[in-house]
Amino acid sequence: MLSTHVTQRKCCSYTGPKHTHIEQSKSVPWWKHALIYEIYPRSFKDSNGDGIGDLNGITNHLDYLENLGVNAIWLTPIYPSPQVDFGYDVSNYKAIDSMYGTMADFNQLLSAAKKHHIRILMDLVLNHTSNKDKWFQESASSRTNPKADWYVWNSGIPADKPGVTAFQKRYEHDGRVPPNNWESEFGGSAWQWVPARKQFYYHMFYKQQPDLNWRNPQVRKAMYNIVRFWLKKGVAGFRLDAIETLFEDPKLRDEKVFPGKDAFGDPKESLSRQSDLPEIHNVMRKLRKIVDSYPGNRVLIGETYTKNTRDLMSMYGRHGHQLQLPMDTQVGFINKMDASKFRQKIYEAENDLHGHMPLFVFDNHDNPRSWDRYGDGKHNTAIAKDMATILLTTRSVALMYYGQELGMVTTPPKRRSACKDPICISGWPKTKGRDGERTPMQWTPGPQAGFSTNTNTWLPVPPDHKWVNVETERGDSISMLNWYKRLIALRKKNLALRDGKLTMLNKNNKAVLSYLRSTTGSKSKTSVIVAINMSDQPQTVSFNLKQMGNKNYMIHTLATNEASLNSVSSLNSITLPPFASWIASIH
Ligand code: NOJ
Repeated sequence: MLSTHVTQRKCCSYTGPKHTHIEQSKSVPWWKHALIYEIYPRSFKDSNGDGIGDLNGITNHLDYLENLGVNAIWLTPIYPSPQVDFGYDVSNYKAIDSMYGTMADFNQLLSAAKKHHIRILMDLVLNHTSNKDKWFQESASSRTNPKADWYVWNSGIPADKPGVTAFQKRYEHDGRVPPNNWESEFGGSAWQWVPARKQFYYHMFYKQQPDLNWRNPQVRKAMYNIVRFWLKKGVAGFRLDAIETLFEDPKLRDEKVFPGKDAFGDPKESLSRQSDLPEIHNVMRKLRKIVDSYPGNRVLIGETYTKNTRDLMSMYGRHGHQLQLPMDTQVGFINKMDASKFRQKIYEAENDLHGHMPLFVFDNHDNPRSWDRYGDGKHNTAIAKDMATILLTTRSVALMYYGQELGMVTTPPKRRSACKDPICISGWPKTKGRDGERTPMQWTPGPQAGFSTNTNTWLPVPPDHKWVNVETERGDSISMLNWYKRLIALRKKNLALRDGKLTMLNKNNKAVLSYLRSTTGSKSKTSVIVAINMSDQPQTVSFNLKQMGNKNYMIHTLATNEASLNSVSSLNSITLPPFASWIASIH
């Protein structure tokens, strides 16, 4: 059960000293300490009353984003698309979908954002196009056309060949079945039959998203041209969609089958033949060369769900010549309040990435919101504030998803007939798809949460918008919005929080995660201590800061979600109420 956002009205004014804003040296790339904010354009702000968000809606709300402290916006795909996967099925990579506006609107967004010191990052869908893209239309028309080899085609195998499984037989055409047992991420076989070619094409995602053949140099050239097109326009970089899936095993070997069925009723399988092949690194190196050839520290962010920190490290490349910011989803997706796990994963990001910047992500458009993944139903507000503390007080680039700063909750459809995401329909009720985390941004307590003037918004507005919204939260000193603002402002102004080394404290404590952030420069030594009680019981902790040398510290609480912690004056015997976050400077 979700708790409401009615917080215990106790505490938490920003009591820290005023810091001067730290000027970033020109040699430090802009993204190094950035706050990147993901916008799902359909859901951010509708400016023309059609019930769907658009580019002008974003342009009109740049003040809000600047005020929050956002340095860059990542826009999920805004290119023309049949919208089967809401933009991730692109049918023209060099234009804007009319649903979101025009190229002139995009140019206007770019230049207005610049005035607000906000950069724009595009979503680059390299793995696949829409089946309505003219490249695919041509490729699918015959086996001999000029683009015949632009996608991953295969003639399949005879249906009566020994070893063919019941799963493959479900996809039989003209006596032939798919060449192997590969499954689409979104259910069913990853192979789709095209009568005109009497062949199957491969699709990792929906069948309307055929995979490009990245082994074909013409495909690579065409895609790199698209990258240059947007860089020339002045975008600050890209989020690389599904970058791990560009290549498939050339021998088309079967995936391993595990016991049980997935949400779509298909056999559970490994992904090792369809994802994370070594060839992706050549592409990432090439993309990096391209972005580096443009001025202004353009950046590559990777959609990387790696299993461990070693794999994550490989995305930066041994010489740091691949992605600057592959997503570290290991911290944000621990999915339980486990201080030891958080300690271990944050430690690894700090120590095992060879000095590269981690990019922590707790929320995005593909997963239930962190509010629901971490909340216990009783202390959700405090827990969500703890997650913000981790995101914004560790030494990481921070990625936020619209509405995270408000404590927006996941609101999945109540009936199958209300589903918009196709996997919600095909996987119902085992999966309700991703509509729940894509609901309209909640601006006001008024009609449609101020998102649109149209009562028929593309997804319904969650009922909690009456109290979870920008307007209401702005005026509430202990709101989630003001907690985020306070932490973001602190991070911008406090040198230790911004760039200081992170040292774990009390490493054996199973309930309290604590760490010290400290600058090493002799003149301006500043240190900040962060302690988060990850349990539902009060916890008493003491800190012995050997690394700080002297024992007469001045302690100043900078931010806390518990009033009792505002007056902490000693590092001995501090009692942290359940799920309390405490951030203090130490001199
Ligand atoms: C990852 C995107 O985040 C997701 O929304 C999309 O469905 C797949 N890639 C396919 O493009």
